[in-house]
This record gives sequence, structure tokens and C-alpha cells, in this order.
Amino acid sequence: MGTRSSLLVDLPASSQVALIAGARDIQPVAGLTHNFYRYPARFSPAFVRAAITAFTQPGDHILDPYVGGGTSLVEAAALGRHGVGVDISELAEFVSKAKTTVLSENELNRLDRWAEELPALIHIHRPAPWFANYAARGYYKHLDHPSRWRLRKVIEQGLGGAIALENSRMEAFARCVVLRTAQWALDGRKKLPSISEFRAMLADNAREMVEAAKAFRAAARSHNHRPSIRVINRSAAGIENDDRLTSLPAPRLVVTSPPYPGIHVLYHRWQVDGRKEAPLPFMIANKLDGAGGSYYTMGDRKYPELATYFTNIECTMSSVTALADDQTTFVQMVAFSDPGWQLPRYLETMERLGLVEMRLPALHGERDGRLWRSVPNRRWYSDQRGETPGSQEVVLIHRKTATQPSQLGRSDRVLPPQDRPSSESSG
Ligand SMILES: C[S@@+](CC[C@H](N)C(=O)[O-])C[C@H]1O[C@@H](n2cnc3c(N)ncnc32)[C@H](O)[C@@H]1O
Repeated sequence: MGTRSSLLVDLPASSQVALIAGARDIQPVAGLTHNFYRYPARFSPAFVRAAITAFTQPGDHILDPYVGGGTSLVEAAALGRHGVGVDISELAEFVSKAKTTVLSENELNRLDRWAEELPALIHIHRPAPWFANYAARGYYKHLDHPSRWRLRKVIEQGLGGAIALENSRMEAFARCVVLRTAQWALDGRKKLPSISEFRAMLADNAREMVEAAKAFRAAARSHNHRPSIRVINRSAAGIENDDRLTSLPAPRLVVTSPPYPGIHVLYHRWQVDGRKEAPLPFMIANKLDGAGGSYYTMGDRKYPELATYFTNIECTMSSVTALADDQTTFVQMVAFSDPGWQLPRYLETMERLGLVEMRLPALHGERDGRLWRSVPNRRWYSDQRGETPGSQEVVLIHRKTATQPSQLGRSDRVLPPQDRPSSESSG
């Protein structure tokens, strides 16, 4: 895997150090609206912050084509960059929007009061709204068990409180409070909380999230211009033909973590009572999901050669590349269940798309010269036995090469210049 051609990134030593420290940051995720929801396999905010700071200026555009829980967009807004996030999951869209909505002072004051009133709504002997459509579609799966129906009922009471706000932006915020609390109460828990514990956590989360939304508002408004943040629910495949993206300048930075080859992450389900998979998060978010796990992970784990995965990653990244120009830097964080063959295969795919790998001079002599990080406390499943169980992630940095492969069918707007400059790189 060391023979492939690569260039050196031309970054000041301080930016390289910040990027390396950010990538290896193991602090619990904190700050701004990042903890509105624990999206599976989410970025470390410190890493995204370092990448955005290193490769862009305020006012630049950033694209995250697999945006998940929106970490990159929160950081983009706070740093005064415009951001677009794309994801095929409606849950990802919901969470990313909830985290990046700049609520008005009036809305925040109303939500302050709502947070104070919320505990009084939660009581096992009070009626709860019943979401018949969701029940009929099976979104309550695994929640009717005697040990869990009480929690289901208080979740519904929380949702009733969100709907009573009668404003779609505040309702989304309040649903996110319920989503976060319900995830804490149900997902991967051996011992379920009592109703009074749930009530106390719901109130704590509501208060903390209102403060976080205030901090996010202050950060997003601390710049001379208002950063524009958009979340688009669709596949990244074909985005080069989507007016919502083609109407924007080419991104200066693509910062993203795609689904990982050979690693099965449950993006769309919670695990209740052992490993029973529950679609409840979609119901709380007022979204629909008709897809199986392989839809979100880009491949069926039954096939060890990961053919579907690599076809999907090529197809989606081809569209991303078509939106980029010769000034765009691509920063991807990827984990592999078996890096020995998957990393070269991944790099070949990027090469076929006309991307050339860039290395950080500061990492010269370290391992393979790439930025690796150990992943703390990941809950994911590797289908490849032995070797590396998906506990290592690598940061890949790419730029477009001068000559693009013609078979990819890019639109005219994004054809790169023929005389690719070398000022950003050497070596
Ligand atoms: C590793 S997660 C991203 C996590 C994100 N960096 C964060 O901090 O929350 C990968 C995401 O890719 C999304 N995804 C999978 N296939 C996709 C596709 N074809 N187009 C766009 N998004 C896709 C999944 O739904 C998932 O949310």
C-alpha cells in the first residue's frame, strides 16, 4: 500500500499538529449542539474543527456527503463557513437539522419555559398521545414488552409536549430532547431506568440542550456574515445533477466519514433488551424508514469481497468529485475491518476517480505515513474475522489530479482546469 503516488500537503506545521491532535482526540464529545444525539460512528468535533481551520477560510463552502449526525455542519457554522450535508437517512437529516437550526431569542425563551414545565407532563397515570400510524407500521417493535411499555408511554408524553409547542422548529428541538433521552433509556441498556429517572434525565437534557442551542446561536452569529447551513436528504450518488448543490460554489473542503468497508454500524436502529433492533428513533423524529441495514452501510455483510460496498463508494464519491474543483481538499476518516486489502482497494477507487493522495509531512516516518487513530469504545460489528476488528481509523487526504478520467461523465461546470497547479503540494 506504500507504492501508490502521493504528494505532500502544504500546511503550516501548527495546522498539521492541530490536525493530528484533533484526529487522535479521545475526549468525550462535548460543546455546542454536538450532544443533541449520539449518532453512531460520529466524528470527533476536534478533528473536524482542525480540518476546517487548516483547509478553509471563513466564508468558504464545505460539503459532507455522508453527514450522519451533522458534526461537520455544526463546526462549519461555528467557524463561519457555509456547509451542506447530504445523507440518505431521514434520521440523519432530522438530527443534523436539529443541531444546526439557529433558534431565535424568542424561541429560546419559550423553550426555557417549556423545559421547566416538561417534568409535570411525565407521569405514568396521565394519558399519553397514541401515534396510530406509527403503531400500525411497526415502529413500536419490541416496546410492548411489560418491562418497556411504561417507557414507551412517557416517551409519547414527551412527544405530546413537543407537538404542543405548535411551531415546527421548536417541535423539532423538543423531539430531539425526547430522542436523546429515549436513546439513553433504551439503546444498549441492560437495566432500564425508572420513570422518575427518565423524567429527571428528560428535564436535565432539555435544560442543557437549550443552553447548548444558545451557545450555538452565539457562535454562528459571531461572524460578519451569516453562515448558511443546509441538510439534504438523498443519496450522494447523483448530487452533481442536483440544483440545490450545483447552484453553490465548489466546496473548498469535503470533510466526511463514509460508511466503513466490512463494518456493520446500526445507524438506524436502537438495540433494546439485548440485541433486538427497534426502529423507534424514526418515530420520535417523526420520520419514516423503510430500509434495511445494508442501505445505510453500502453493502451486505454476507459478501466478504464487499463488491456492493466498493461499487457504492465509487458511485457516490464520483458525484462528490464532480462537484469539486482543483482547489478542493478531500478529508475522509475511514475504518476498515481488514485494512490489509481494503485500504489499497479504497485508495485505488479514489485514484480511478482522479484523486491523488496527499500526506502530512509531519507524519513522515510514522507507520505508513498516514494519520491513524485508535477508536475508543466503538459499538460496531466487523464481519471479517481476525486481523483488525475495526478499531483503527485512518484519515485520507486527497485532491483532484489535472486529468480526469473521461468515462465518469462529469458536468461541464465542474470540469477541472487542465493545468493543475502544484503550489499546494510538493514531493
Ligand atoms: C459514518 S456515518 C457519518 C457520521 C458523521 N460523520 C457524524 O459525525 O455523525 C456514515 C453516514 O453515511 C450515510 N450514507 C450511507 N450511504 C449513503 C449514500 N449513498 N449517500 C449519502 N449518505 C449515505 C449513512 O446513513 C450514515 O449516516
